[in-house]
Amino acid sequence: MKCIRSELIGWGHYLPPKVLTNDDLSKMVDTNDEWISTRTGIKSRHISEGETTAQMSVKAAQMALKRAGLEASDIDLIVLGTLTSDNTTPSSAAKIAGILGMRSGTPAFDVGAACSGFVYALTTADNMIRLNQVKSALVIGAETLSKITDWTDRNTCVLFGDGAGAVVLRACEGNGTSDDRGILSTKLYADGSKYDRLYTSGGVSTTAHAGYIFMDGKEVFKSAVGCLSEAAEYVMNDAGVSESDVDWLLPHQANIRIIEGVGHKLGIAPEKVIVTVDHHGNTSAASIPLALSESLESGKIKKGQLVVLSAMGAGFTWAGALIRI
Ligand code: ACO
Repeated sequence: MKCIRSELIGWGHYLPPKVLTNDDLSKMVDTNDEWISTRTGIKSRHISEGETTAQMSVKAAQMALKRAGLEASDIDLIVLGTLTSDNTTPSSAAKIAGILGMRSGTPAFDVGAACSGFVYALTTADNMIRLNQVKSALVIGAETLSKITDWTDRNTCVLFGDGAGAVVLRACEGNGTSDDRGILSTKLYADGSKYDRLYTSGGVSTTAHAGYIFMDGKEVFKSAVGCLSEAAEYVMNDAGVSESDVDWLLPHQANIRIIEGVGHKLGIAPEKVIVTVDHHGNTSAASIPLALSESLESGKIKKGQLVVLSAMGAGFTWAGALIRI
């Protein structure tokens, strides 16, 4: 049956130039490369030196628009997943729209779903495209986590990094089968009873300051493998495809042990699992679009391939999406 799909026609990413290695961190807190590498798989991360979430988003978006062969004024919607907006208000999406020169009247908003923010944003844009409310969308995930990291806390400061990734979606006609190109299925979840397992120590209506990231690392670890697997399984079943049909699993890049655990649980071979956590660290809502764009740009992920995205983060929130590129 004919249906509207959201086809992915452009991708882009941006990483701030400063690279912070594990050895650099060992000069700042009591840690070492061996501890960080074995527990997390992270070797280095990029850190913004003054560039904001919106500024990094603009660079990722410009690359995505170029790949799509479109101007910002051609786009009908912009949605940004982030937990590190430039200002409390307005949204960074509105700021990015202004800098890019999008048409006045184009809807722009941020989505706050922590590390699941990009997949939440992608799902929102996909639904608006399928409802025929818009014909195209710019979807971004971007973070300056370095601003809400306590650089004296070795439990957390070794984990996070900064960056931005973006995709351009365009409405296309599909046959309603898993052979269609574009987004084939999405699924969002949250469990607010886990609100206090991963959080910032402040916020506008509590302390009036953003605060720093805190977490119950072991609890997050345990839940992450289950949530990431559940979201991936849901979208594969929903679209009627099996693990063997999937070309790439692209999970949220938090920790190599979580990523390997998800691949193992789903029965997807390690060589089909995208890993960028080693050189990006955990960039929250930016992690999936950064890894997606980097893999498309290098030719690792190819046109026609089936990619399953799964994300998990504070809330807890978790989310999945299945895309044929
Ligand atoms: N360097 C050296 N030692 C450290 C460091 C460090 N950077 N951090 C903690 N330690 C110490 C601890 O103090 C502790 O010492 P102690 O036994 O003397 O008290 C010891 O190492 C063991 O600490 P654990 O917390 O038991 O280490 P664990 O094996 O659980 O690993 C980690 C910690 C990596 C955070 C793990 O719990 C984890 O991966 N959790 C998942 C959380 C995650 O990835 N969060 C990211 C955000 S959430 C998300 O994106 C979904």
